[in-house]
Amino acid sequence: MAKIDLSNISHSYNPNDPNPVYALNPFSMTWENGNRYAILGPSGCGKTTMLNIVSGLVRPSAGRILFDDKDVTDLKTEDRNIAQVFQFPVIYNTMTVYENLAFPLKCRDFSKSKTDERVNSVAETLNLKSFLNSPARKLTADQKQLISLGRGLVREDVAAVLMDEPLTVIDPDLKFRLRRNLKEINEQYKTTLVYVTHDQNEAMTFADNIIVMSEGEVVQTGSPKELFERPNTTFVGYFIGSPAMNLFESEASSNDSVKINNTLIKTHTNLSNLKTKNIKLGIRSEFIKIAQNQNENLVDVNVEKVEDLGNYKLITAKLGDFTIKSKVTRETEIPSQNVKLHIPADKCCVYEDNKLI
Ligand SMILES: Nc1ncnc2c1ncn2[C@@H]1O[C@H](COP(=O)(O)OP(=O)(O)O)[C@@H](O)[C@H]1O
Ligand SMILES: [Mg+2]
Repeated sequence: MAKIDLSNISHSYNPNDPNPVYALNPFSMTWENGNRYAILGPSGCGKTTMLNIVSGLVRPSAGRILFDDKDVTDLKTEDRNIAQVFQFPVIYNTMTVYENLAFPLKCRDFSKSKTDERVNSVAETLNLKSFLNSPARKLTADQKQLISLGRGLVREDVAAVLMDEPLTVIDPDLKFRLRRNLKEINEQYKTTLVYVTHDQNEAMTFADNIIVMSEGEVVQTGSPKELFERPNTTFVGYFIGSPAMNLFESEASSNDSVKINNTLIKTHTNLSNLKTKNIKLGIRSEFIKIAQNQNENLVDVNVEKVEDLGNYKLITAKLGDFTIKSKVTRETEIPSQNVKLHIPADKCCVYEDNKLI
């Protein structure tokens, strides 16, 4: 296992074109040994390109990749000691499940007993034990993907296991269990796992560090909590969380207050150095509650609907022309009229030109 540094990396698939298009704009980051990372972003934002640069399938147009401070940019995939799992299963149909799982070990001359031990342990984790002697071609699509995953996990000595939307073909229940298993594997073996997904739930439940991407840019890296509470950009606020972060066009009113729909909202942000008028207030619906005895940051709203979503209620209301959403406990009584919501100052995020101040 290794610490992985991506240093000033950028990539274009048409670098010699008069107007090259950059699939990845310059960025640097470090993946620490033994952590769980998710690369999260919509389709086409550059996730696979980033992963393939680390594994060596793609050579970056600029920048260096270091494993444990050793420059591997010019090394081929085979020489990087990486395990990669793709979106669709890649298996040897003519081999048994056991032979498929054992293959990466056989290539490296592991002993029979060590191979047995590793294959059995991985097969146990992935529920493949009863299929070990079956020909791989007889298995279902999701079982085949489990074999691919197993081949990625069977070696303990890899620098990292890179997974590119690996659970796409797997049904939701099994997905949930597998993500938990992957977490256990990471905790037990301290394997660095990097998991690409476009699904925020997958990223949030799997990773301790999430790299959020948009249009070839790394827009934020952080823990699920950081991304939830302090999104760096309105894109992250919108992309992460369900519902998306409430975002209101507003104007600055004093050094720490903004006005939305003629209501003054105090924040904990210093607004004395604004350069533009493109100001938005962001606040998670989880932090907005029915007002109790607070005397500031109250907004009068017209409730449009209340949805009972099992363990919470979601209020959708109008604040002038704005829609505001608030998540409250099931027990919360919602008055039939004159509803006031409270927006806590310490949970307010203020954005200038869509970037967090
Ligand atoms: N082999 C390729 N040749 C040219 N363009 C590519 C190639 N692979 C990806 N791209 C382009 O690079 C951008 C990023 O793609 P990709 O890394 O596959 O995104 P993601 O995995 O997030 O969906 C997209 O605009 C895609 O069309
Ligand atoms: Mg992809």
